[in-house]
Amino acid sequence: MNEIKVFAPATVANVVCGFDIMGFALQEPCDVMTIKKIKEKGISIINADNYNLPTAPEKNVCGGALLAMLKEVEIDFGFEIISEKKIKPGSGIGSSAASAAAVVVGANELLGRPFSKMDLVRFATYGEEIASGARHADNIAPCIFGGVTIIRSNHPLDIIPITCPDMFVTIVHPQIEVKTADARAMLKKEVLLTDAVTQWGNVAGLVAGFLQKDYDLIGRSLCDVIIEPIRSVLIPSFAEIKSKSMQAGALGGGISGSGPSVFMLSKDKPTALRVEQSICEVYDKLDLEYNTYVTTISHEGVRIQP
Ligand code: HSE
Repeated sequence: MNEIKVFAPATVANVVCGFDIMGFALQEPCDVMTIKKIKEKGISIINADNYNLPTAPEKNVCGGALLAMLKEVEIDFGFEIISEKKIKPGSGIGSSAASAAAVVVGANELLGRPFSKMDLVRFATYGEEIASGARHADNIAPCIFGGVTIIRSNHPLDIIPITCPDMFVTIVHPQIEVKTADARAMLKKEVLLTDAVTQWGNVAGLVAGFLQKDYDLIGRSLCDVIIEPIRSVLIPSFAEIKSKSMQAGALGGGISGSGPSVFMLSKDKPTALRVEQSICEVYDKLDLEYNTYVTTISHEGVRIQP
């Protein structure tokens, strides 16, 4: 096999209370990457979209991830990557992670699968470092494993995929720019013990809620007393879209990754559509462009075109 097409899903990192340690995969949208073996050594990147992302491998998230992989394998050929991004860069739903994950999964297939999923996550975090300055795995792990994943440790990596009930996800993406590096720089380096205790309780409750398929427990655990109070100022009318979503029947939700997208979880599709409608009513009153999607949590991660 000399060529492969890979679909890598958008992801929601943090899942409100699990900053840097939890994420889940979405059914849609997906980045589409074609990876080819080529005679010339090295990595050649071609953009097949209008985002004009850097094509020098060391400045590109796919290139950075693949370079990390190629340090651990000896080959006498190179790779060409054709990048067709469907997940808007900077949207807060794991755009950089999807590209990096797609490329390492695709290259691993073309090499005969020498690496484990855990290795692939590790390589892809080098792409995240190029995008945001931090090798966080909370978008990459769910992108590669699918479903909900816990990152028990980032360094060294320890990833735990967990089961969760079927859920619908309403996403709103206000068209403003929030750079992950800036959204990380604004966070406090220290937290109060009382806040940490509240956060631990919610993380534990959320994990138990997912495993026990207990929607009420999931809903009441979707509470963040550490990151959201700081970052929510970046998102137009955050408090209002959250309270209107809850009134419309959402289980809960919050900032997706570092924003600007916001996600809300619902038990069923009619509720998720009502949540979408209630968010649109808030944003239609503002002079703001935005997109919304209603999708599901995907139990499958990166897909290879059969
Ligand atoms: N955990 C990361 C953050 C996710 O919140 O900065 C970025 O998508």
